[in-house]
Amino acid sequence: MDIIQPVRGTSDLLPADKAKHNHVIDCAKQGAAQFGYAEMATPIFEFTEVFSRPLGASSDVVAKETYSFEDRGGTGLTLRPEGTAAAMRAIISNGLTQSLPQRWFYAGPMFRYERPQKGRMRQFHQIGCELIGPASPLGDAEIIACGVHILKSLGVLDQTVLHLNTLGDSDSRQAYRTALIAYLEAYRNDLSEDSQRRLDTNPLRILDSKSASDRNILQDAPQLHRYLTPAAQAHFDAVKEALQAASITWVDDPFLVRGLDYYSHTAFEFITDQLGAQGTVLGGGRYDGLAQSLGGPLLPAVGFAAGIERLALLGEEQAQPVPDLVLLAAEQSAEADLFALGCQLRADGYHVVSILSGNMGKKMKAANRLGARFALIAGADELGRNCVSLRNMQDGTQTEVEISVIGNWLAQQG
Ligand code: HAM
Repeated sequence: MDIIQPVRGTSDLLPADKAKHNHVIDCAKQGAAQFGYAEMATPIFEFTEVFSRPLGASSDVVAKETYSFEDRGGTGLTLRPEGTAAAMRAIISNGLTQSLPQRWFYAGPMFRYERPQKGRMRQFHQIGCELIGPASPLGDAEIIACGVHILKSLGVLDQTVLHLNTLGDSDSRQAYRTALIAYLEAYRNDLSEDSQRRLDTNPLRILDSKSASDRNILQDAPQLHRYLTPAAQAHFDAVKEALQAASITWVDDPFLVRGLDYYSHTAFEFITDQLGAQGTVLGGGRYDGLAQSLGGPLLPAVGFAAGIERLALLGEEQAQPVPDLVLLAAEQSAEADLFALGCQLRADGYHVVSILSGNMGKKMKAANRLGARFALIAGADELGRNCVSLRNMQDGTQTEVEISVIGNWLAQQG
């Protein structure tokens, strides 16, 4: 264990990375607000049952990926692997089940013990939206439209394709499950080890298998849409009709089942071919049964989450803020007064960065690196006369300016 390295699957967000993350969060928050989604936050850890019950014991996330531990009082806690179950817990524990709909936006770190690779981290970050209350298919369409809007505002929509499927209601899934098991049983020994296990625990997840031989077997497998109840079919048709009316395009993906067990009806993912194996940038769906798995009432809900790291990989570099002024003391005896002047200028609203060490040559180089238009240079003699020199970093011209008119002088420079 090398303690001066970050833990595997985690990484520091240095300023350039953090600027990209912040850009994703700001665009997403603003886009979500246009649909009426208000930002909220849940704790980073919850009682383990908040995730283990709704996400499903047979899901990979619960079976293999949670960071679960006992605190010093012996209480079983889990670092949140996702935000949806926690958001629903918050609806119930804050007594909001009678105050619906709620439209929530969130952003923050999530934790999954996965095998790290490009775009897959153990601590990663998500933005997400949850619409809790409406059972209407227009809710599903709204959530998808909100995802489209956010991806568009980030300039990455063109790099993705929307995959759409329905998991139907529980009657549809029950009928399909029986048919799928009957089909796959004949190939049990040819299935991958994971899929053989899933055949007994959660056969629908086999549809999501990446194994080539599984995919081969699945080619002729029964498809869920043929087992939909009339009500589930009508729900899905209405979602598609609304998407079509809004000119949102998609591909039908009968194999899309999502990795968490709480979904019913609509499931969708925006997938890119630009990030290798980790191509899903945004995914979600309807999860009407989740509240009940937490001991709450039946609460229709639909939502999505997107990986900030993946969106940042697809998006553009973000410019760092450039200071209005950099401050350079010409000699040590001027440093304290210049420090005080810097504090005053910041109080007046300027973005001012002090260069604290090095000889004059090194200080000028540092000032250039920061990209500021002007350097404020002063020695004790000038400060004694209430003056400073302002140097235009582009053309090298230098002007002596009285401290009281620095603001005016800067304004005149345009
Ligand atoms: P999810 O598909 O598990 O869904 O995650 C959503 C997104 O988070 C993924 O599409 C991906 O961009 C990102 N992501 C997931 N795992 C990782 C990882 N290990 N490293 C980097 N990025 C990752 C959910 O979490 C659901 N709560 C979405 C939802 C909201 N469904 C309804 N409401």
